[in-house]
Order: sequence, then structure tokens, then C-alpha cells
Amino acid sequence: MPKHIIIDTDPGIDDALAILLAAVSPEIALDGVTTIHGNASTEQTTWNALAVLELAKASHVPVFKGCDLPLVKESLLGPETHGNSGLGYAQLPEPATQPKAQHGSDYLIEQIMSRPGEVTLVAIGPLTNVALAIRQEPHIVENVKEVFIMGGAIQHPGNTTAQAEYNTYVDPHAAHIVFHSGMPMILTPLDVTYQCIFTQADLDRLLKIDSPVTKFIADATRFYMEFHDEYQSIDGCVINDPMTLALTFMPEICDYQNLVVDVDISTGVGLGNTFGDFYNYEKKKPNMKVAMGVRPRMFMELFLERMEKLAREIS
Ligand code: BDR
Ligand code: CA
Repeated sequence: MPKHIIIDTDPGIDDALAILLAAVSPEIALDGVTTIHGNASTEQTTWNALAVLELAKASHVPVFKGCDLPLVKESLLGPETHGNSGLGYAQLPEPATQPKAQHGSDYLIEQIMSRPGEVTLVAIGPLTNVALAIRQEPHIVENVKEVFIMGGAIQHPGNTTAQAEYNTYVDPHAAHIVFHSGMPMILTPLDVTYQCIFTQADLDRLLKIDSPVTKFIADATRFYMEFHDEYQSIDGCVINDPMTLALTFMPEICDYQNLVVDVDISTGVGLGNTFGDFYNYEKKKPNMKVAMGVRPRMFMELFLERMEKLAREIS
């Protein structure tokens, strides 16, 4: 039986790759996509979600527009990382479908409450929609099956400030609400995603198949690779979000630790920093499972095989 999944996302180059992976993976039933501010404005990430689903021949998947702004902080978009459109150099056709009228947070509540224990949420952008949903209907906490979150840098440097990862830095207050909610959470921090680099050789392998899918991946990741080279001297790019999605059906890609994880919402230089209480100084029960070890090639092989499959289907 496929796992019923809703993706909360800010596409975003690696978000787009996660949507493609979800669309082609038989282990998953992608029930819906909710959009959020982050890599680009919510208007733009919603357009991108619709366009990427259309590219994957999955425009039957409904898209729900979510929050435009973080809960407390001012907005912080990511044009230098993902380009002004959020999809690097890729140019997709105008999508034929429109987002649904319902707000993203309301859709999350409706779906989780109407199917207790069935919905897996994959949150790969700033956590504003999820936090808002928790505040509106606290019972989603015990009714969601599990929540996979891409975010945080536990023992790894930040990618947005010296200490903070992008998704937690953009809306640290939302991350705080979610981390303290009691939901069953699995975190994919930079500690594991930065060990898996999508390289030019990986891209060349995909480009052996002539398809709009491989063209899209090439045009999007070319921008992302330039960013990684310029800002972090990384040869290739880190595709955080598809790894998070992959863990929903191939958990053995990573090794996990049960940890008490918190996020800094004070106003100093640590804002958005995520930290684990490894020695349990606080004497609290772990609030999440954290991916701290990874088999990089296992993930990359899965990702490449699935993209090849999708490309062969759509040529
Ligand atoms: C996260 O931030 C965004 O730029 C990516 O889409 C990913 O979700 C990585 O820090
Ligand atoms: Ca993202």
C-alpha cells in the first residue's frame, strides 16, 4: 500500500526535484502539495509547484497556496541560491491548472483530521504553514502519521548564517512551535544532506536520456551548482529536499538518533540555530528522530534511477 503524502514546499530547485521524485515513486501516493514562502514568494512557489507537477504529468495532484510571510520575522527569499524564479535557469511553460481556493494550512488540517494516522507530511520549506495549522487545530499533532522535516544543522555549519540552516532561519518561530508540538518527527538536517553531492557526472548520466525532465534538471541545477561553487566552493550541488522525501520509503539511507532538538529564537547571532541535547542535560524525552549518518551513494543511485525512469516515461 503506498504511503499517503502531502508535501509542504517552497520550490525551489531541490524542492522541484523532490516533487519529481514523489511523482515517479510507486511507494508514494502524493495526495496534495501546499506551498510556502522561502526560496521565492508564495505566489511564485505556487506557480512553480503547478508547473513542476505538470512537467511530471501529475497535474491531477491539487496545490494549495499557503502563508506569504514568516510568523514573526520579515521575509527572506533566496534568489541568489535558486534564481529569481526559484527554478534556476529552467523555464517551464505556463501551467494549465490553478491552485485550489482553500488555504494550505486549512488543507493540512482537513486532511490530517479526516484520516487519523494516515497522512505523512513532508515539510521541505520554512515551517510557517505547519505551525499555523498546529495553532489552529492542535489535535493534528496526535492525528498525523509522521512528519519528515528538511531543516536544521545540528553539528554542521549553517548555510544561511554561520550557525543556521535556511528553513529554520527563515521562520525560526514556526520551527519552534513545530519542534515543541509533540508530533512524531524525523529531521533531515544539513549534517546528512551535505554528504550527498549531485555532481556534473550525475547530471551527464541523466542527460543521456533526451526528455523535458532531464532538460529541466540540467537547467535548474546548473544555476544551483554555480551558487554552490561561488558561495561554498562545492563542486556540484546539495539536493536536500529529495533526500528527505526518499526517507519516507527508504529509511535505510540514513542512521538516526533520538534527540532533544531545539531552535534558537533569541535575537542574537544564533537566531535559527538548531541544537541537539546529546548528553540530555535537560532530562527531557527526545522530541524527534534525527538523521545523523547517511549512505550517500544509496540515496544518489535511487534518485538517479527514478529520474531516469521519469525521463523515459516523458520524452
Ligand atoms: C533548504 O533550504 C532551501 O534553500 C532548500 O530548498 C532546502 O529546503 C536547505 O537548507
Ligand atoms: Ca525547500
